[in-house]
Amino acid sequence: MVPRSVGPWEIRSVIGRGGIGVVYRARHRVSGQLAALKLLGPAQVVDPRAARRLAREFEVLQSLDHPNVVRVFEAGVFEGYSYLAMELVEGLDLRASLSPALDGAAGPGAPCADLSVLSLSGPPPEVGADAIRALASMMDEPETAPAEFHPPVPAAPDGGVEPAPPGPLSAQAQAALNGPRRLSRLRCSLRQVLGALVYVHERGLVHRDLKPSNIMVDDRRQARIMDFGLVKHAEEAVEPLTGTGRVVGTYRYMSPEQAQGHPVDGRADLYSLGVILYELLAASPPFTAQDPGALWHAILHRRPTPLVQVNPGVDPDLAAIAERCLEKDAGARFASARELLAVLER
Ligand SMILES: Nc1ncnc2c1ncn2[C@@H]1O[C@H](COP(=O)(O)OP(=O)(O)OP(=O)(O)O)[C@@H](O)[C@H]1O
Ligand SMILES: [Mg+2]
Repeated sequence: MVPRSVGPWEIRSVIGRGGIGVVYRARHRVSGQLAALKLLGPAQVVDPRAARRLAREFEVLQSLDHPNVVRVFEAGVFEGYSYLAMELVEGLDLRASLSPALDGAAGPGAPCADLSVLSLSGPPPEVGADAIRALASMMDEPETAPAEFHPPVPAAPDGGVEPAPPGPLSAQAQAALNGPRRLSRLRCSLRQVLGALVYVHERGLVHRDLKPSNIMVDDRRQARIMDFGLVKHAEEAVEPLTGTGRVVGTYRYMSPEQAQGHPVDGRADLYSLGVILYELLAASPPFTAQDPGALWHAILHRRPTPLVQVNPGVDPDLAAIAERCLEKDAGARFASARELLAVLER
């Protein structure tokens, strides 16, 4: 059950569910301002690490001001629910926004028919990241419990044998992926995401959780990066580990250095962008595996199938960018988002 309203925010419908909470479409009772409300709760079922991620996200977003970074309004705790209210992006995530079959695609704000409603009355919300953190400490656990890094062991070691590369896509699939209008939309979004990364990285921050669902493109094609809960300063970006020794983040988009718990800088985000771009050009990820351990192994040791083998009609410049971003050694990637942006704009 979710509250019908959270402080001044009236909840209207579900937008989506993520790893740490649910995002709702909401409206400010007084100003009428629409917002996306990320809600974790109630307190007894919330993972305190998720609450700390939300607090971190709020603080980071408050310090950022860029047209391609989602804007934050407020955050706090209401009746045991931690919440973050941010700009509502009316659009689709990056992958959906580039769907060759965009016609007829539903928007992200489909109303939720079965939103169970629990009316909560009570004192006004306590606002701010500290309120969320205080709630998290009530639920236990120090902020970043130091833990030894335990790389996952592949369930079925592959003995270094490369799986057979995927065959080339059908001519029809290639035509859909390589259409000039789609590629121009892709370049447009990529430029904006890179603009945001230049801004974020030049403030010494690394996003560390870039993936298609964390990039949204609105109906006017303005892209926004969101989900800043795992952001770190580049110099402190040694991977904090979860209580179970898992690396936080999403393996599928994670750089080899991040997956190993090594220090990361902006080039780790460029790697994630490389995975995203590869997927958008090949319609399949650079690495697939049966289980997280095998995926981890592939990220560290396998070379992705060259894009031209999967999609022979691929745009060669974009393919070269994706493949360079996917270099295992950060030193072999672009030196910075700014350098990559300059290459894209040549
Ligand atoms: N500001 C926003 N405006 C509109 N939709 C949003 C906004 N923030 C998130 N969403 C939508 O809500 C969904 C859930 O977001 P959330 O960040 O909780 O999960 P996720 O990105 O899918 O996964 P993860 O928890 O691993 O980040 C997203 O996929 C996105 O479509
Ligand atoms: Mg997200």
